Amino acid sequence: MKFRLATIEDLELLFTWRNDPVTRMSSINSQEVLLEEHTEWLQNSLNNLNREIYIFEDKNIPVGTIRIDTRKDNIYVLSWTISPEFRGRGYGTEMLDKFLDGKSGKFLAEILEENISSIRMVEKNGFRLLSSDIPDMPLLYYKVLGKRTDA
Ligand SMILES: CC(C)(COP(=O)(O)OP(=O)(O)OC[C@H]1O[C@@H](n2cnc3c(N)ncnc32)[C@H](O)[C@@H]1OP(=O)(O)O)[C@@H](O)C(=O)NCCC(=O)NCCS
Repeated sequence: MKFRLATIEDLELLFTWRNDPVTRMSSINSQEVLLEEHTEWLQNSLNNLNREIYIFEDKNIPVGTIRIDTRKDNIYVLSWTISPEFRGRGYGTEMLDKFLDGKSGKFLAEILEENISSIRMVEKNGFRLLSSDIPDMPLLYYKVLGKRTDA
């Protein structure tokens, strides 16, 4: 299993994953996107110094993606998708674990309350619920990771 940075070559792959019905249902912005819009979004994202998009691969087969946005306050906002045909096999859990391994900082994920598998993923990873009492708002999960000291 390994991560690599996404490139413009991943346009079609990310477009398919983005418009998958379950991805859309689980997303804060659930509208179907047009290829033109998606192309512009990916180009802008790849040029955005505050955003990184990774592709998670198993034996060179792309199984998922994780995006990290650095906010002005230096909080890292994460979002992810596993390829529809690879869901429910533990890849999401593994992707998040591996992604955060060795990292430090404050991480945040916004998750719709019906997105049970993402909630399981973050809870197993040790994220904590920041807020849950605002109706119709995504749940905010956070995790603070410190720098490792090997002393
Ligand atoms: C959320 C998502 C990334 C999870 O990835 P995944 O590889 O399917 O997840 P895993 O196989 O690691 O399973 C994670 C947990 O969810 C549970 N789960 C998986 N599919 C489920 C389903 N259809 N219904 C209920 N629970 C489910 C698993 O049992 C596991 O919990 P457990 O460890 O307690 O058994 C994937 O479903 C996805 O891409 N969804 C659409 C996009 C999305 O939701 N993005 C996140 C927006 S915040």
